[in-house]
Amino acid sequence: MTEHQTDHAVMEESLELLGDRYDGMAAELFDRFIAGHPQYAHAFVNPEAARERMTRETLEAMVGLAADEPWVDHAVTNFIDLHHDYADFTPQDYAAWFALVIETMASRAGADWPDGASAAWQRQADPLVAKVAAVERNKEVPLRT
Ligand code: HEM
Repeated sequence: MTEHQTDHAVMEESLELLGDRYDGMAAELFDRFIAGHPQYAHAFVNPEAARERMTRETLEAMVGLAADEPWVDHAVTNFIDLHHDYADFTPQDYAAWFALVIETMASRAGADWPDGASAAWQRQADPLVAKVAAVERNKEVPLRT
């Protein structure tokens, strides 16, 4: 990372350097996330169908925020509503997911991961978690317990 590189630029660069090592990451993430949150294991009824989309949309939300894309707020509202269909997750759960995604990309890329890349990703994750915490719950969706 050069001195004047934006978060968006270093994130894009880090994805390029990750390259093929992205393959299989969604499966690894889901296995690790579910193992770390056994209380939610019941909610993952079809992980093979969901994990690629969930991983990709997580990365898109962070890259989109770094690029100041206007659709990001909407995307957060949409995935929060979507997830009310599965269980009642907390902002801390989202923070743990983002952290796991960032840590897993860094460890897969190894020495190729640019200096400062994890911090650049984390600077998007933090405000996204704040948005998750601020989204008004869709009251038409009954609480699942
Ligand atoms: C930025 C964060 C996240 C995004 C963008 C995201 C996105 C998605 C998407 C697109 C799906 C697939 C829906 C479908 O196929 O119709 C999904 C499924 C799911 N997500 Fe997330 N997700 C996020 C975080 C989380 C977190 C933190 C949890 C748990 C605490 C979670 C739990 C689930 C569950 C249980 C499913 C259904 C899985 C299944 O059917 O087996 N997600 N998510």
